[in-house]
Amino acid sequence: MHSAEAKLPVCPGPDWAAVRADFPILTREIQGKPLIYLDSANTSQKPACVIEAVDDFYRRHNANVSRTVHTLGTEATDAYEGARSKLARFLNVRADELVLCSGTTFAINLVAYSWALPRLKAGDTILVSRMEHHANIVPWQLVAEHTGARIKVAELAPDGSLDLAGLYAAMTADVKLLALAHVSNVLGTVNPVREICQEARKRGIVSVVDGSQAAPHRSLDITAIGCDFYAVTGHKMCGPTGTGALWARREHLQAMPPFVGGGDMIKEVSFEGTVFNEGPHKFEAGTPNIAGFVGLGAAVDYLQSIGMAQVEAREGELLAHATEELEKIEGLRIFGQAPGKAAVISFLIQGAHAHDLATLLDLEGVAIRSGQHCAHPLLQSLGVAATCRASLAFYNTHEEVEGFIAALNKARRLLA
Ligand SMILES: Cc1ncc(COP(=O)(O)O)c(C=O)c1O
Repeated sequence: MHSAEAKLPVCPGPDWAAVRADFPILTREIQGKPLIYLDSANTSQKPACVIEAVDDFYRRHNANVSRTVHTLGTEATDAYEGARSKLARFLNVRADELVLCSGTTFAINLVAYSWALPRLKAGDTILVSRMEHHANIVPWQLVAEHTGARIKVAELAPDGSLDLAGLYAAMTADVKLLALAHVSNVLGTVNPVREICQEARKRGIVSVVDGSQAAPHRSLDITAIGCDFYAVTGHKMCGPTGTGALWARREHLQAMPPFVGGGDMIKEVSFEGTVFNEGPHKFEAGTPNIAGFVGLGAAVDYLQSIGMAQVEAREGELLAHATEELEKIEGLRIFGQAPGKAAVISFLIQGAHAHDLATLLDLEGVAIRSGQHCAHPLLQSLGVAATCRASLAFYNTHEEVEGFIAALNKARRLLA
């Protein structure tokens, strides 16, 4: 090595073996074999600090939020609001513009019912992309049914990236709303949402970004993206299930009517009428998943302690390794090869059904997903009934990639 190069400071990165040891479930055996968990796009595993934060909340601080003056109530409220602040910092948005909810599905439905339903009408168009998850299709279909608006679909290039020229051409004057995934859960495509949302904004189109698969794998700056709404789900980012959030521009939050009515979202109620709470609380009726959000706050701390740039780099290495090995398997086809894609690999092996492959892999301790991945329109356009999907996370290892490939070769010999 050149001596000048040798003197460059070395950034060691995290000790990935120690990081992996933070996840208790990863020591499990399945069918007598060490678990190789490759289904993190479905739900991520949880580090001990998240599990302990939930446990500690129930053991020491459990009370309802925003309703009491007693000490436990104050502690619970502080913990819940503290989680909101942590998540807001993680996403680079203001905490008072972040609605906490059960996940992306609820978040997108909130936009559909509170923003779109009262505004859209016959003649308006909702633009979505071919790669959307059902959570970013079905709510818009319900809105279209009620309002007479129609849905237009932006198509993909053969490598699974969005056809940007086609998308911009589709942004005609009748389009009032654009609903788009930041990262595809099937193809791994990372959409250039910053550029796309700016184009939408120039044309007066309100943009909704589904960040379910982005928040766990990329450093996010929602303010820089410049969208109108951004949805995240906690259980894919090392947090508990039933947690998530919707970020909305302040002017939308103020103008939108509440979606669900009940306690906590009000200032004053009489039988003559109700004065609603302000900011995100207007949309948080009823007792929330307090312990879950405490866990999500711990998950955000955990991800930040590793560093999202490190997470992205590690997952990129694992993706490159897995892709290189998969490409050596005869008859194997990968769906989605967009440049800069996230660590999600959908594939099929000629002559083998996706569910059969996934079942045989399970016998080897390897957990992948098979099926339509809540993206029927995308799979229809790919011309397949189902795919296998291996999704990697920073806590996976190169040895696991090798184990997955060996198990796949064994299954292929049996099936294909
Ligand atoms: C791209 C995408 N959008 C939305 C969702 C729905 O998330 P949740 O079920 O957590 O609301 C998922 C989950 O698989 C997803 O991958």
